[in-house]
Amino acid sequence: MSKAIIQTEKGGPEVLEWRERDDPAPGEGEVALRHTAIGVNFIDIYVREGAYPMMTLPGTPGMEAAGVVEALGPGVGDLKVGDRVAYVTTAPGSYSERRVMPADRLVPLPDDIADETAAALMLKGMTVERLVHKTAVAAPDDTILVHAAAGGVGLLLTAWLKAIGATVIGTVGSDEKAKLAKAAGADEVIVSTREDVAERVADITGGKGCRIIYDGVGKDTFETSLKAVAKFGSLISFGNASGAVPPVNIAVLAPKCISLSRPQVFPYIADRADLLETAENLFAALRKGIVHPDINQTFPLSDAAEAQRALAARRTTGQIVLLP
Ligand SMILES: NC(=O)c1ccc[n+]([C@@H]2O[C@H](COP(=O)([O-])OP(=O)(O)OC[C@H]3O[C@@H](n4cnc5c(N)ncnc54)[C@H](OP(=O)(O)O)[C@@H]3O)[C@@H](O)[C@H]2O)c1
Repeated sequence: MSKAIIQTEKGGPEVLEWRERDDPAPGEGEVALRHTAIGVNFIDIYVREGAYPMMTLPGTPGMEAAGVVEALGPGVGDLKVGDRVAYVTTAPGSYSERRVMPADRLVPLPDDIADETAAALMLKGMTVERLVHKTAVAAPDDTILVHAAAGGVGLLLTAWLKAIGATVIGTVGSDEKAKLAKAAGADEVIVSTREDVAERVADITGGKGCRIIYDGVGKDTFETSLKAVAKFGSLISFGNASGAVPPVNIAVLAPKCISLSRPQVFPYIADRADLLETAENLFAALRKGIVHPDINQTFPLSDAAEAQRALAARRTTGQIVLLP
């Protein structure tokens, strides 16, 4: 037996219950893991609320973790008991002391990558690697707007874009968060709770706007992003922290010839070769000091509800990790 967060209905953080359950046994091609650290992501909130129908109920939330292999199912050849691994998955279940995972979704952890770091960054770090190098290829002469620049994805994006040489404008919700975005490398920071973001972007860019906008805030920022993007620019809408972007008439893109995309990380890493390449690029960026773990909050796994409350209420910065 071990413990897991279990939710039996959609709803607020109060539906997340800490319960004992039987340990699952690994089937063909699967391994049993003991988790050592678990990442918290905004997608966990969408899943809990039912906005993303990715979990059958009763179910255990959570899309990423690091852990140790405890048992191998039939047909697993390239892992052994005791190996350290990490993963990101479309099958929720990481808010648990133990779980079973398909072996081919696991990334072996190098000795110099800590469990907490991997748990914090598998989803957000690999997302940022693909956003910066695949979705819209960032270049040194780009001026780029990063919304929620002190958040989990935001700090990583800001740092990675700076390493490429781009000029980064970040938006944040408070002066404290502005300091973090600056420390990550943002050239300009706009405090969105008291400044007009589109006007400030126009001032900073001499009216040109930004060549790329990374918008994970969604509903509250989409119109602003349309105003702030440059002619022929790219608006990358990759999340809905403030709610889903309402349906868009694509004709609004025409006057400035804007490219609009709505990427998610999972298709980018569905093939094992792509998964391993993206993870290796992330580990290399950590080693070079391009990005940092920035684990600014940890919670006991049993307090997952509190972690999600803090994330939804804009009280967190950087990464959040749950410890079993
Ligand atoms: N497409 C993908 O594959 C993918 C992968 C990972 C993450 N994401 C998306 O990336 C975004 C960031 O994720 P994260 O986990 O790193 O979260 P986060 O950025 O750490 O937290 C969300 C931030 O959004 C800002 N925000 C503005 N309005 C908000 C509102 N009404 N409610 C809540 N937050 C609001 C807040 O920052 P300020 O107070 O500074 O404004 C808040 O801290 C999310 O939309 C997530 O779904 C997408």
